Amino acid sequence: MIKILCSSTGKNLELSESINNVLKELGQESEVLVLEDFDLPIYSSRAEEKGIPEGATKLTDSLTKASGFVVVAPEYNGTIPAMLNNAISWVSRAGNEDWRAAFNGKFAVAATHSGGGGAKVIVTIKQMMEHIGCNTMARSIMTNYSKAFNPESAKDILESLVKAIK
Ligand SMILES: Cc1cc2nc3c(=O)[nH]c(=O)nc-3n(C[C@H](O)[C@H](O)[C@H](O)COP(=O)(O)O)c2cc1C
Repeated sequence: MIKILCSSTGKNLELSESINNVLKELGQESEVLVLEDFDLPIYSSRAEEKGIPEGATKLTDSLTKASGFVVVAPEYNGTIPAMLNNAISWVSRAGNEDWRAAFNGKFAVAATHSGGGGAKVIVTIKQMMEHIGCNTMARSIMTNYSKAFNPESAKDILESLVKAIK
């Protein structure tokens, strides 16, 4: 199962759905997870003292069952949006003794629809996913307002992920 982590509900949700369609065409089981739907509070040590939120446990369980990920996010001020950073922070704290447990040894593709090229958000997604134990695929899916989603190129990139998890 490949989980598509979607960090915003505009163009990046459209991109997530296009990616989901390509994965289905490849015969791969996949699902879009809209991170906003998990209602996660902003992570802080004080917030954690109040207990792990239900949404964080739900998201962690869902990601733990996956064997691969596509991490989709817009570039915000040259980096990843708070939505994504916050979600990964909670998952790395949500009850597992091993903070990498949901991701370790798995595979991921980075994807973005950004205002500009999106190169910085791609580098940051890959850096973070590798830090938490994921092997990221060399190629990424990059779209913007003047560069539409290319299903053929996306298929090549996603095929490498599908092969890696087999
Ligand atoms: C707070 C904020 C910061 C942004 N910073 C950048 C940026 O650094 N680089 C960039 O290419 N686009 C930037 N953008 C534009 C978004 O990446 C772009 O509009 C994206 O497609 C929005 O995705 P969405 O439609 O899924 O919400 C920024 C947008 C917002 C709201």
